[in-house]
Amino acid sequence: MDASTLIPAQADLPALKQAAAGCTACELYAPATQTVFGTGNPTAKVLLVGEQPGDVEDQRGLPFVGPAGKLLQRAVAEAGFGQGAVYVTNAVKHFRFELRGKRRIHQTPQPEHIRACTPWVGAEIAAVHPEVVVCLGATAVKALLGARYRVTKDRGELLKYTGPSAEPTMKALITIHPSAILRMPDDAREKGYADLVADLAVAARAVA
Ligand code: URA
Ligand code: SF4
Repeated sequence: MDASTLIPAQADLPALKQAAAGCTACELYAPATQTVFGTGNPTAKVLLVGEQPGDVEDQRGLPFVGPAGKLLQRAVAEAGFGQGAVYVTNAVKHFRFELRGKRRIHQTPQPEHIRACTPWVGAEIAAVHPEVVVCLGATAVKALLGARYRVTKDRGELLKYTGPSAEPTMKALITIHPSAILRMPDDAREKGYADLVADLAVAARAVA
């Protein structure tokens, strides 16, 4: 089963968000707090897609508001996007975690979760109609571009976007996930961050 049967036709973002709030198309809804839908400029030229909400996002109901989100927001601004220029969302809309004591440890979503959830991001892309879809990390790449692409090999270049709700002129851009930068050893993090900013700047220039 996937989420496509739950998606109202021609829906705007508020209607999609409301429908997604009740999604039970995969097992991830049960242990999580809430569906975390996308947010930002509803007519953005650039739409950014992460992996899934983290612990903080799950509690607050907003994407990219935890540590990785802070880093991403800083990088987006540094890449040349104005305040409120972009739309941000995730490939998977419920937090997948494992309980260790009281701690909720992030777990990467599995192919069946990605498959189940991708119709939601497809509907967001149809509603926002961006010129560039930015895939942050491997999960977004798998969801939107498929297994032919690799973050390390294909990052930082404008590609043709061929994923859900694609239109002929839409571009895709692959870059690293901000969480991967937070996990880098101290001596690599500065370069990792600069590379993320440089990739995002390619998208910013494409829509300037
Ligand atoms: N990581 C993601 O991929 N998405 C979020 O919303 C937060 C962290
Ligand atoms: Fe639905 Fe996606 Fe949540 Fe699974 S992760 S229940 S498909 S919104």
